[in-house]
Amino acid sequence: MQQDTSWVPLFPEQASTFAWQVDGLYFYITAVSAFFTIGVVAALIFFFIKYREKEKYETGAEIHGSIALETAWSIIPFIISMTIFLGGAVVFYNQYRPPAEAMEIYVVGKQWMWKFQHGTGQREINDLHVPVGRNIKLTMTTEDVIHDLFVPAFRTKADVVPGRYSYMWFNATKPGKYHIFCAEYCGLNHSGMGGTVYVMEQSDFDNWLSGNVSGQTPVEAGQDLFENKLGCASCHAGANQRGAKLEGLFGTDVKLTTGQTVTANDEYIRNSILNPGGQIVEGYQPIMPTFKGQVTEEQLIQLVAYVKSLSAKKGGSTTSSNTSTTSNSNSSTTNNANVNKLVSNPNAPNNRPEATVNENRR
Ligand code: CUA
Repeated sequence: MQQDTSWVPLFPEQASTFAWQVDGLYFYITAVSAFFTIGVVAALIFFFIKYREKEKYETGAEIHGSIALETAWSIIPFIISMTIFLGGAVVFYNQYRPPAEAMEIYVVGKQWMWKFQHGTGQREINDLHVPVGRNIKLTMTTEDVIHDLFVPAFRTKADVVPGRYSYMWFNATKPGKYHIFCAEYCGLNHSGMGGTVYVMEQSDFDNWLSGNVSGQTPVEAGQDLFENKLGCASCHAGANQRGAKLEGLFGTDVKLTTGQTVTANDEYIRNSILNPGGQIVEGYQPIMPTFKGQVTEEQLIQLVAYVKSLSAKKGGSTTSSNTSTTSNSNSSTTNNANVNKLVSNPNAPNNRPEATVNENRR
């Protein structure tokens, strides 16, 4: 764990598990560049003094090839560039593969604010409270244009793109306040689209959770939309279902009428709500209307969370007629088990009043 503050002037402190890796790679590349820049310039100066024209109209010496020299200057740079490539690949692999065991937080970017929702229902705008030493996975999208969530102290950033989900994760190593930037020019108030991550000790975080009105959890809100507000349940639940079965669906492979097989992940569920005709599941009719324009990005996230929870409750054992269980379902079960763990936190509030101050700020 990296605990020291930055020893490099102008550098943000290192506050995540992979911050030192990013810095290490950066300094390594800088050192390699500096070494060659200084080496080339020094050789240049040395040669034009040593080999300067000493008398008028001198002829230059003839130089013939050298296999040893040419091999050396090909192989050494190759090895150096491969160390840069491998270092970059390892850091990238670590950073953009959220671990299965992670606390999930949903993020919606909007001109010009960041909206966060916790698995336990708390909502925040431009502030994000997280416990120290835990894997935090952000599932992110945007209501309008491309933004980019950037926390320099964590050395991580990711675009949020209209119409799809992007992911980011981190594990903060020390409590403190860290600035959030929007790192993609998104209009007039781009520079003001910032916020703060508050990294807290687990006990402080539990206090914070219980001290904040949590409203509906994303799963509860999604269930409400599903059963009441949007009426999805009239086709996707009950005795005579016309729509595809959703229990146990998440994380499985789905066969489409086109013969293609797709994995039922966040993106698939989102697309199926907005563009149901695009991916018809084998054995079903294309009768579902589109919900484009009727649901906000936050509601989509809630619906996805609800459909995901249908798989967690039933466990991996339930397999509906048109799906087959794959190993992928394990990861979704873990994620939801984690959310459930949070929900059953003894410090967390049990009653969730309907309207919250935060919600009104939206
Ligand atoms: Cu949002 Cu720049």
